[in-house]
Formats: sequence, C-alpha cells, structure tokens
Amino acid sequence: LSGVEELLDLLRSGGRRPKLVVVLGKGGVGKTTVSILLARLLSETGPTLVESLDQAMHLQEYLKLPKRNTVYEVRRNLYAAQFDVESQVRRLGETYATLVSRILPGLKVLNIEGVTEMIKYAPGFEEEVYLRELMRLYREERYRFIVVDTPPTGLTLRILSLARLYSFWIDRLIELRERIVSLRYVIASTAGIKREMDDPVLDKLHAMKREFSELNQLLTDRGATSYVIVATPEPLPVYEARKTVEFLRKLGAEPSIIVANRLLSSDIAEDLGVAEVQERSVRELDSLRCGSTCARVYIPQVRSAPSSLDAVEELVENVRVVVERR
Ligand SMILES: Nc1ncnc2c1ncn2[C@@H]1O[C@H](COP(=O)(O)OP(=O)(O)OP(=O)(O)O)[C@@H](O)[C@H]1O
Ligand SMILES: [Mg+2]
Repeated sequence: LSGVEELLDLLRSGGRRPKLVVVLGKGGVGKTTVSILLARLLSETGPTLVESLDQAMHLQEYLKLPKRNTVYEVRRNLYAAQFDVESQVRRLGETYATLVSRILPGLKVLNIEGVTEMIKYAPGFEEEVYLRELMRLYREERYRFIVVDTPPTGLTLRILSLARLYSFWIDRLIELRERIVSLRYVIASTAGIKREMDDPVLDKLHAMKREFSELNQLLTDRGATSYVIVATPEPLPVYEARKTVEFLRKLGAEPSIIVANRLLSSDIAEDLGVAEVQERSVRELDSLRCGSTCARVYIPQVRSAPSSLDAVEELVENVRVVVERR
C-alpha cells in the first residue's frame, strides 16, 4: 500500500456519510491548497465536496467558482463551494429580529432592520452562523466526504467551543424554565385550577439541547470528523499547530493528519540560512500527539505557487505520507 492509499484508508474509516475532514492551520500555511488536495484524492473514492468557510475567499479564486454559496462540480465526483458568511449573517439576523418582534411587540417602534443590524454585531453571532453551517454540512448525505477549509484559527476554535457553550447554557435555561413551570403548576393547583405541566418553551429548549448534543457528539466522533492540521516549518505556524492540538484534546478530539507544507530541500534551506529552523520545526511537528492511527504528510515547496486544480494535482506527485499506528 502506498502512503497515499493508507491515508485514504484512514479517512475512510468510520464510514459515517458524510464524513467531515476539517482542515486547520495558521493563515497562509496552505490550508486551502491542502483542502483541495485532500478533496481531489477523496473524490476517487466517492462524491466529495470541498467547502471553504474562510472569508479570504481563496478557494473561490483557486477553483474559479463564479458565485459564492453555490456548489459547482469541478471534476467528476469533486464539488466545491465558497461559503459567504456576510449574507448568512444577514439572513439569520432577520430570522432572529422577526422572532424578537413577535415576542416583544413593543419593539415594533424599532424597525426590523434596526434590530437586525444590532443582532448582527452581537458577540458570538458570526460564530453561530458558522456553527449552523457545520450542522447543515453533517446532514449533506449526497457526499461521502466534505472537506472544510476553515477561517483563521482563533475564530475556528471559538466556533468549535460554541457548541459546548450552548449545551451548557441550554441546560441552565432548562433548569430555570422547569422551576417556573412547576411553580406555576403548584400555584394553579393550590388555587384549585387545573393546569397542564406541558410547556412549549421547554419543548423548544429540549429540541435545541438534542441538536447541540448531537453536534458535539459528531465533532468528537472519529467516524464522523477527521481533523487535519497544516503548518509550514516555521516557529509561529508550529506554535499554532501545538495550541490547536491542545484545544482539540480539551474538546475530546484529536487530529488524524498532520501536514508539514512548503518544505525546502536541504541545500536551499542551507543557502537561505533556515536549515536549522526548518529541521527544528519539523521535529516539533513530528512530536505533536496525533490519533491512534495518524498520517504525517510532507509536501515540498514547489517552484510556482499552485493556484489551480491542475497545479494541485501535480503537487500530489510530490507528497510523502507516513502512517503511524499506536
Ligand atoms: N507546497 C507549496 N509550494 C509552493 N507554494 C505553495 C505551497 N502550498 C501553498 N502554496 C502557496 O502559498 C500561498 C498560500 O496557500 P493557501 O492559499 O493554500 O494557504 P491558506 O492557509 O489557505 O492561506 P489563507 O489563510 O490566506 O487562506 C498560495 O499562494 C499557494 O499557492
Ligand atoms: Mg485559505
């Protein structure tokens, strides 16, 4: 088995449809390139979507996608889409504004657009839009794989934590609501009035709880999600890779692929005076704790920066893969 086939085997394991392959790494290290490369390889084994959540919109340029939020077939079995958070923020903002104006009719004095504008800038709102997009992707059963090119690390980690945070909040809200509902019940029966214990708000909270605990479960299930960490052999990208691994561990997840991208040949590295930094960085990346089956991928720096699917296909020829089993 060649390294690349072993890598595909690793990603195929678990078998949930779709499986999300989430690509993480510092800006500029080659996340978009690696996302396209993995999606291209995976498309040989089944219908694969590569979707970029990164607002740098590089995937859109790379694959020359005419419009955002639209799926295009770019090769047989390979689909691509550029997610545009702005338009989704507006849409969700409007939904919430309508809800708010229904609950608080007094707010009608403010116009809906005013409320939408306000909600849009609420802390965590953009993160929620991304989180909903992830939920939507997990339901896209037409694809065998979905490769997700992520926004900058800080934002991505906030998005992943939000699922946890929401579950926690919802649990507290359920406790509060249960107290209210049972108090009402007690007061009503003391007064001799018959009253149902059922409560639509409580039902809605329980539905949300189910949704978020399912999402948390998917995000930490190796059969449903594989994490890929990309870094170039330099101190900052490697530092961010380490921080990401630590974060994933707290979440209850682990990476299954660690990619060292843009590796210079040793003579060029010597000439540029970066041989030692590169060697140390690669050693540190190699020491990062990875899943029980872990693929370490090494991609050389190529002469001309890849900027098309054809160029990424050429890059595949130069990729080296080492699969470790613990
Ligand atoms: N192995 C490589 N050899 C040479 N150039 C590369 C290699 N990998 C990526 N590049 C180039 O580096 C630049 C950044 O790559 P890419 O856009 O994939 O990174 P990114 O992490 O997605 O960046 P951003 O955070 O800006 O979205 C691009 O111009 C790309 O063509
Ligand atoms: Mg990118």
